[in-house]
Amino acid sequence: MSDMSVFDAIYGLRATRIFEDREVPKPILDHVLEAATMACSSGNTQPWEFIVVTDRGVRKRIQAEMIEAFKVIDAERAQTKEQLTDGAGRSVTGRAAVENLDKVPVIVVVCWNPDRGIRMKGEYAENPDGSLRETREIPGGRGVSLFQASQNLMLAARAHGLSSLFTTFFFLRREQIREILGIPPRIFMECAVFLGYSAEKLGAPRRLPVEKVSHLNRWGQVYHPDDRSTDRPER
Ligand SMILES: Cc1cc2nc3c(=O)[nH]c(=O)nc-3n(C[C@H](O)[C@H](O)[C@H](O)COP(=O)(O)O)c2cc1C
Repeated sequence: MSDMSVFDAIYGLRATRIFEDREVPKPILDHVLEAATMACSSGNTQPWEFIVVTDRGVRKRIQAEMIEAFKVIDAERAQTKEQLTDGAGRSVTGRAAVENLDKVPVIVVVCWNPDRGIRMKGEYAENPDGSLRETREIPGGRGVSLFQASQNLMLAARAHGLSSLFTTFFFLRREQIREILGIPPRIFMECAVFLGYSAEKLGAPRRLPVEKVSHLNRWGQVYHPDDRSTDRPER
């Protein structure tokens, strides 16, 4: 078991896009997947399904699709060049992740299973091809519980010395990647988490200060944190 504190795991979590070509030991993988299943979910439906991709051939097929997707995506971006670069000059787009995708030892593709996830009548209707479409907007719907599970997975991985990347960019090649992974029509592919040992040197995350994003009792009334009274990791 790792003895990393939960705060060290949270404050040290960075979006890692370049990984060492090194396997993740199975007991660690088992543990982080179990941590993912401990997440909260809407109505405790636990609607997640995890496709754990470790096979290099499968990763290479996904990479080939993503390289095709990235040939067009950069031209369509709405953000400026500055917005697409972080404080360390790194791109926040997934380009580096795509270029190195075949070396990521584990990609956990996180899917939503409506047979567990639907909570209200008329929430979804079936299309002729067996896929579903949303027909009633429900708060806390589809992706939300999966994001809790993904964050648990990433923090547990961090505690075991692994790095990770949360991604949604498989949507760019949704049909092709669903086909590669054999995902049935009813099941929604929502996001994917890359896991492995980092080959990048990344510092502390740059985040907006609490007072810039928090309100006290009413919108517009700034919540001012006190001077640092608790012992927490340096930023
Ligand atoms: C909803 C969501 C979708 C994301 N999708 C992608 C993605 O498709 N590709 C990628 O490389 N990073 C993706 N990221 C990672 C973000 O770019 C990253 O969390 C952000 O730039 C902060 O990085 P840092 O933790 O290293 O500071 C996503 C993050 C979130 C929360």
